[in-house]
Amino acid sequence: MTGRGGPRRGSDDDPATVSDDAARLGDPTPDDGAAVAQAFYSRWARLYDALATRAPGVGALRSRAADALALEPGDRVVEMGCGTGANFPHLRDRVGPDGAVVGVDFSPGVLDRARDRIERRGWENVHVVGGDATRPPVALNGDGPSRPLDLDGDLPSRPLDLDGDLPSRPVDAVFSSFVSGMLPDPETTVRGWADLVDPAGRIAVLDLARSTRPSGAPLNPLFEAFVLAGSPPGTRLRGREATRTLDARVATAHRTVRAACDDVRYSTHALGFARLSAGTVR
Ligand SMILES: C[S@@+](CC[C@H](N)C(=O)[O-])C[C@H]1O[C@@H](n2cnc3c(N)ncnc32)[C@H](O)[C@@H]1O
Repeated sequence: MTGRGGPRRGSDDDPATVSDDAARLGDPTPDDGAAVAQAFYSRWARLYDALATRAPGVGALRSRAADALALEPGDRVVEMGCGTGANFPHLRDRVGPDGAVVGVDFSPGVLDRARDRIERRGWENVHVVGGDATRPPVALNGDGPSRPLDLDGDLPSRPLDLDGDLPSRPVDAVFSSFVSGMLPDPETTVRGWADLVDPAGRIAVLDLARSTRPSGAPLNPLFEAFVLAGSPPGTRLRGREATRTLDARVATAHRTVRAACDDVRYSTHALGFARLSAGTVR
């Protein structure tokens, strides 16, 4: 896993460069394959968890992304599209026992595995909540929380309230990994995530997209096959446009982090296939 830290603008690896000739983002319709994606991730939760935790280099990548959040003990971090909780150990290590980690996902099957992980580890300050990351079920700065989805009847009927005064205590950081490509309108969604964060809080987004590095680009056809295999059938990310749509959504998400933050750091890893953007929300 090779990293290249530091802000990079206008380079071949810059997500803006990737997006300029990339595909359309697709209409930001609310039903943009969400039900199909939920069924897909629920069905394949066990296999996904194995990949998410054991694929070569993935642990180091997750650790690097968690570092980019610059979390401190006692911080409260929300992970959007947390899946089976593969990032939880990295986030929990950094916020310590006095902080809190909240994972949000809309697929019941992966949430079950995330809950198992929490229970096995005995983490009392790590929570998952069923909800749509495009309408996060966590408190907003002063506006009151949005409503969570009630996916399977035993999810919280109201937003997770960690200590009784969440609305007056925005979160310190928002994180997301490998989710941007599933967002119908990544600009609005990532902007909304930034709005959840306390002033001077952090946001970090980690994604995969086609590589523009000379060392990685020859492997793009393999990556395209990987994207097809991993895309829920029937969603816009299936078919010939799959990777172009993925690239465009990822590029938009990362550009939005850049627009919302000061001191943004953008880096690429894993031969240029992994993209990490992080910054301090202004
Ligand atoms: C590729 S997995 C990544 C999971 C996890 N972040 C990781 O790094 O292993 C994408 C996850 O995003 C979730 N997801 C996608 N769109 C979502 C949305 N709008 N709201 C909540 N979860 C969403 C899916 O259910 C799935 O668990």
